[in-house]
Amino acid sequence: MKIAPSILACNFLNIGKELKMIEKAGADWVHLDIMDGHFVPNISFGAPILNAIRKISALTFDVHLMIEDPKRYIEDFVVAGANIITFHTEATNDIVETIKTIKSTGVKAGLAVKPDTPIDTVFPYIQDIDLVLIMTVEPGFGGQKFMHNMVKKVELLAKYRKISSSNILIEVDGGINKDTAKVAAIAGADVCVAGTSVFQANDPKEAINALRAICEI
Ligand code: DX5
Ligand code: ZN
Repeated sequence: MKIAPSILACNFLNIGKELKMIEKAGADWVHLDIMDGHFVPNISFGAPILNAIRKISALTFDVHLMIEDPKRYIEDFVVAGANIITFHTEATNDIVETIKTIKSTGVKAGLAVKPDTPIDTVFPYIQDIDLVLIMTVEPGFGGQKFMHNMVKKVELLAKYRKISSSNILIEVDGGINKDTAKVAAIAGADVCVAGTSVFQANDPKEAINALRAICEI
């Protein structure tokens, strides 16, 4: 199980230190939630922030675009240092071209689905992408409660991955803590995004280790 703390839950006054802290604490990736105030009812940060923190971090930058017209901004995020770019199936009519644009830059491509979007929406693209992100909360805000009825989607995708001989990673995002990470791992998830449960923990290092350990039992 890979653990990807979401920087959205960090103290932005100390973003550089917070990033170093999770890197030292053993995070596998850092998850970067990009929100535009249109696709989701919240605004977070953009490529200039990635560009700044890229200089001090060797972590894999896992960029989650919650924005309309994602294709338009791919280049900005690639130049700023993204390693994986995931966009929402609901955000564009141009899924194939958007995947192609990401892959043409050498960066890994992911597709994300909101809670109301059936998981078979991503099946036609499974051979062209590297990752599927299953939202386990409504996108837009950290600190929400894990939606247990999303576990079925993880199971269905894991099954489809097997029969289609694909090796995509399955990422779950929203409301992840020790209990929900375990449920997601059993269902077939490979990557857990965790904001609140890491950054608000008394000991983030312990929180990261605990998340990983619980998924290996
Ligand atoms: C929600 C974001 C998530 C979120 C995770 O729109 O995609 O990455 O910040 O935060 P927690 O772990 O607090 O639910
Ligand atoms: Zn996210």
